[in-house]
Amino acid sequence: MTAPGVVSGPVLGIETSCDETAAALLDPQGRVLAQALWSQVAEHARYGGVVPELAARAHLARLPGMVEAVLAEGGAAPAIVAATTGPGLIGGLIIGANFGKGLALARRLPFYAVNHLEAHALSARLPGVAEPRPEFPYLTLLVSGGHCLLVETRGPGAHRVLGRTLDDAPGEAFDKVAKMLELAWPGGPALEQLASEGDPGAVPLPRAMRGRAGCDFSFSGLKTAVATWLAARGERLSRSERANLAASFQAAVAEQLADRARAALRMVPACNTLVVSGGVAANATVRAALASVATEEGRRMVAPPPALCTDNAVMVAWAALERARAGDPGQDLFVSPRPRWDLACPSLRSPAPHVGRG
Ligand code: KG4
Ligand code: ZN
Repeated sequence: MTAPGVVSGPVLGIETSCDETAAALLDPQGRVLAQALWSQVAEHARYGGVVPELAARAHLARLPGMVEAVLAEGGAAPAIVAATTGPGLIGGLIIGANFGKGLALARRLPFYAVNHLEAHALSARLPGVAEPRPEFPYLTLLVSGGHCLLVETRGPGAHRVLGRTLDDAPGEAFDKVAKMLELAWPGGPALEQLASEGDPGAVPLPRAMRGRAGCDFSFSGLKTAVATWLAARGERLSRSERANLAASFQAAVAEQLADRARAALRMVPACNTLVVSGGVAANATVRAALASVATEEGRRMVAPPPALCTDNAVMVAWAALERARAGDPGQDLFVSPRPRWDLACPSLRSPAPHVGRG
């Protein structure tokens, strides 16, 4: 057993909340001993998006062998087991969380039910990501396929949500616009590649919420503006016109994110670091725009390398390690997988009863 605050051995992390099946073993300092990640992109590509039932079956088929391989390669038995327990697709969450719980029970180890959003928010503190390591409190911008949040990260289990999207997440907008441009799913990386050939000033597109009080976001108007522009053109675009549209869209997203991040930075003068994480943080134009804003506001920007921005199990193990070090004993066997789990929920260990959808 691990005493609160003292982590006596490696941490096994499991991630199955969407379409990445992943396992990782970290040593008590957070260094990666072994990791495996399998992206299900090929399984879902022909449907143009993640099919939850297929994702769950694929997690079930792959996860046990993956965990076995990571434990063998890591060469050390875990002292803690952690699995993403929400938010995400319920089928995958049930598989990852129950597999982790079973392993923890069998080996008499503490189990940590990890909030996926907290894992993204804490990933910037992983060893090797940034020197010096970002200290609490810092401002986190979480931009992914399902989420868009500005959060004051005060420590494990302590997050204050300052702003969020009123409609789409930016990754969702990337994926939808990529579809309009007939790019392969998932659209973010393909759109970024196409945009590299284009002129970001070629197509005038709106910047929603710019200068508006608070730091909420909106992306559905931008997506609609792209669709309207395409419909007005009415003809098949040349490669360079498609590249111009992709570059203009990407520039609009980057500018919107930068504007809202600036507003949030002004709300939290005590935070000297802007942490950017989630799949969209893999985008170089987005990173550059946010880095400029951070510099202009006298702060530092930290974004984990792209492989740690997209979903992975290293960040899940790390989130549990941070909680264990902070004295959280991780007695989470009775925490049920949850499709929705707000980062602002006061207790990450005991989520409030689920209300609303599903
Ligand atoms: O964090 P993530 O792997 O999964 C979620 O929790 O959603 O984020 C996936 C999202 C997708 O919408 C994908 O298109 C987007 O991140 N994404 C990108 C890039 N790489 C991934 N968007 C823009 N540019 C990229 N390079
Ligand atoms: Zn994610």
